[in-house]
Amino acid sequence: MELDVHDKSQADDEATVDVALRPQDFSEYIGQAKVTANLLMYIEAARKRGDSLDHCLFSGPPGLGKTTLAHIVAKHMGSQLHTVAAPAIDKKGDLAAILSSLNKHDVLFIDEIHRLPRVIEEVLYSAMEDFKLDVIIGQGPSARTLRLDLPRFTLVGATTRAGLLTNPLRDRFGVSFRLDFYSPKELQSIVERSSRILTVPIDAEGAQEIAKRSRGTPRIANRLLRRVRDFAQVRGDGTVDRAVACKGLELLEVDHQGLDSMDRRLLSLIVEKFDGGPVGIETLSAAIGEERGTIEEIYEPFLLQEGFLQRTPRGRLATRKAFELLGLTYSANDPTPTLF
Ligand SMILES: Nc1ncnc2c1ncn2[C@@H]1O[C@H](COP(=O)(O)OP(=O)(O)OP(=O)(O)O)[C@@H](O)[C@H]1O
Ligand SMILES: [Mg+2]
Repeated sequence: MELDVHDKSQADDEATVDVALRPQDFSEYIGQAKVTANLLMYIEAARKRGDSLDHCLFSGPPGLGKTTLAHIVAKHMGSQLHTVAAPAIDKKGDLAAILSSLNKHDVLFIDEIHRLPRVIEEVLYSAMEDFKLDVIIGQGPSARTLRLDLPRFTLVGATTRAGLLTNPLRDRFGVSFRLDFYSPKELQSIVERSSRILTVPIDAEGAQEIAKRSRGTPRIANRLLRRVRDFAQVRGDGTVDRAVACKGLELLEVDHQGLDSMDRRLLSLIVEKFDGGPVGIETLSAAIGEERGTIEEIYEPFLLQEGFLQRTPRGRLATRKAFELLGLTYSANDPTPTLF
């Protein structure tokens, strides 16, 4: 049995459970202490002034809690949240309709904001900066521009690829936070909280084992918890302890470091086919049959942070840790370009 813990579309019930497990308030949002402390302060200040909150940008790898945070921010502001995915906006008129339906202090959440088409993004500039919306009435020579006032709203943008945002858009966010991978301790608390909600009997060691192998990501922790729960119900008495968690995770091919089969495939490709690298991302993408964006967005961040991979000007380089993981002897490659 193989589980792709990254595949968002995999389980039908995933979305429903995701919502059930989603923290509703800052008090339930585990980890990211700096982010939440700052946000709380900005929200309190805005409320005291009777103003809208500054536009906020949340970036970071998938499943770290960006959407969750957008919901919490709106709730804490006592505002209505309007959600839209950037790829769903394909005409200027779509965005104009959304913007003109907002009420004072509402939160407009644009997910995957790096995927907004440029012409639509430009509509956002004056909306974000001056709370004005330019609409063109009529066509041809008689066309004229009308400047409409918008209510003071808050734009919350989420992105897994902050680097792809244009500077003019990035500059219009007053507040910008990058979410980090969670520590095993934080993930353990998340697993324990989710177990309570899903009424899964689990002990501290069972939760610790799942936490350790969740790639620093709450969504993966919740997913592994549910798969281990299934295993415990079929093979045991339903209780998740360390032994059950280990056996269940082994079946899922999730190793002790949280790496799954795709992570290992990526590393072994670099090590075995390309002598440890450096290898260009395009070559890697072709060799593994996975889009460049998917590799950069989903697989690489964790492998980089855990020190299995290095990004160099000449491409990706496997580290000693990657060789050791694959049970191979390390042969160092010089990441710096040779000058001669
Ligand atoms: N800080 C947290 N504490 C507890 N649970 C969390 C936390 N952050 C995220 N989660 C859990 O992880 C799930 C995924 O979070 P969320 O959907 O907010 O991630 P995301 O960053 O928006 O991901 P994507 O980039 O794929 O849209 C949530 O449903 C929630 O159950
Ligand atoms: Mg999201």
